[in-house]
Amino acid sequence: MDPKEQEKRLTAEILERVREIARLRSEAEPEFVPGKSPVRYAGRVYGEAEMSNLAESAIEFWLTSGRWHRRLEEGLAAWYGVTHARLVTSGSSANLVAVAALTSPYLGDRRLRAGDEVITVAAGFPTTVAPVVQLGLVPVFVDVAIPTYNIDVSRLEAARSERTRAVVVAHTLGNPFDLGAVSEFCRRHGLFLVEDNCDAAGSRYRGRKTGTFGDLATLSFYPPHHMTTGEGGAVLTSDDTLLRAVESLRDWGRDCWCASGVDNTCKRRFEWELGELPKGYDHKYVYSQLGFNLKMTDLQAAVGVAQLDRLDGFVAARRANWDFFRGALADLSEALVLPEPTAESEPSWFGFTLTVRDGAPFGRDELVRHLEGRKIQTRMLFAGNLVRQPAMTDLVAEARRTGRPAPFRVSGALAHTDVVMNRTFWVGVYPGLTAPMRAFVAEELSSFVRGRLRR
Ligand SMILES: Cc1ncc(COP(=O)(O)O)c(C=O)c1O
Repeated sequence: MDPKEQEKRLTAEILERVREIARLRSEAEPEFVPGKSPVRYAGRVYGEAEMSNLAESAIEFWLTSGRWHRRLEEGLAAWYGVTHARLVTSGSSANLVAVAALTSPYLGDRRLRAGDEVITVAAGFPTTVAPVVQLGLVPVFVDVAIPTYNIDVSRLEAARSERTRAVVVAHTLGNPFDLGAVSEFCRRHGLFLVEDNCDAAGSRYRGRKTGTFGDLATLSFYPPHHMTTGEGGAVLTSDDTLLRAVESLRDWGRDCWCASGVDNTCKRRFEWELGELPKGYDHKYVYSQLGFNLKMTDLQAAVGVAQLDRLDGFVAARRANWDFFRGALADLSEALVLPEPTAESEPSWFGFTLTVRDGAPFGRDELVRHLEGRKIQTRMLFAGNLVRQPAMTDLVAEARRTGRPAPFRVSGALAHTDVVMNRTFWVGVYPGLTAPMRAFVAEELSSFVRGRLRR
């Protein structure tokens, strides 16, 4: 038999076997035993298509960015309704590339320069803010509002200074921040907006998907997120100059934009004259920025292609689980602050957030320990108050020691941010949460709170 034909036949056989394994795995789901089986806050939800795509990509053995990579980039751009999506290794690297793109020489006079300020919040994930500091910019922290857990937009004007150049914030746990107010603030003052959309795939504001409002937006595909590629992320933009900056920063900082394995896309490979290089120096090795290498592999992208097909279903399941908790826990509001969607939004929730009221007859840590003891996973709202994390107190101490300027600025009190740090936690709403699991979570929360209120 022709070796090509033989390979095709063997591949088909292998893929059928892989799908069989996926089917076996889904049939072997263990029975849920309340209090004994874990109720996870999130996790991978996958099946035949993900495993088969992954195996197919493994057999192809392209490994680096290839056909699956292109397919996922095109699919994501179409799903969000933006012009471009570029895949990277994680949500954190997406944030790094997005913020670095704002400092790119490609932007000319619009580029951010060391010491420029970026308005953000401290109640969130550290790597929304880390690149700001790492790139020599200065984060300016403003408080969040409860119960949306998003940036308090009434604080924006007071936080602005001569050096403010951008706003970089996340849609907290899937709840869109007030995109109307933030976009208007950015427009009025000529600021860039980066939406950290890592926890909000499918959320909408005034009917439009989040991740499409900012100059740039970032996605994470780490397993707890709305869709997964294991590790992985993406940057979205509809701006061609920012796209060039993002792509180059992701791909070593090179000036050339050939896909991997391709030469001479620009048709001028040996004709460019750039920097102080000799005329005609191979464009493949011309660097117009000092970049990184943060490309996703084709194996990961192959999984992502299958996950993207299910994303609408995942979003619907997350909303249904959140709605269930909101209904089932409504009468606990004497002791717990229940979450609320931002006005004019339809969140695609990452979690169900609860804050123990000041004066409740129990504390957050006691409730969390109770739930964890019943095998119900809980999570903090990430860093709580990032300013109080050791990474930041160390930066402050180092600045003092060396006489350098403060590494960040705090605008106004971060009172709600401290409430988040001290009294907030969340439970999962991911699509793998079954009806018996979520009923058990609601029952455990209710019986604990009612029991304490009666005492
Ligand atoms: C809001 C937010 N941004 C960024 C990230 C980082 O994503 P990754 O874990 O893919 O680096 C996370 C992580 O969960 C996140 O919640």
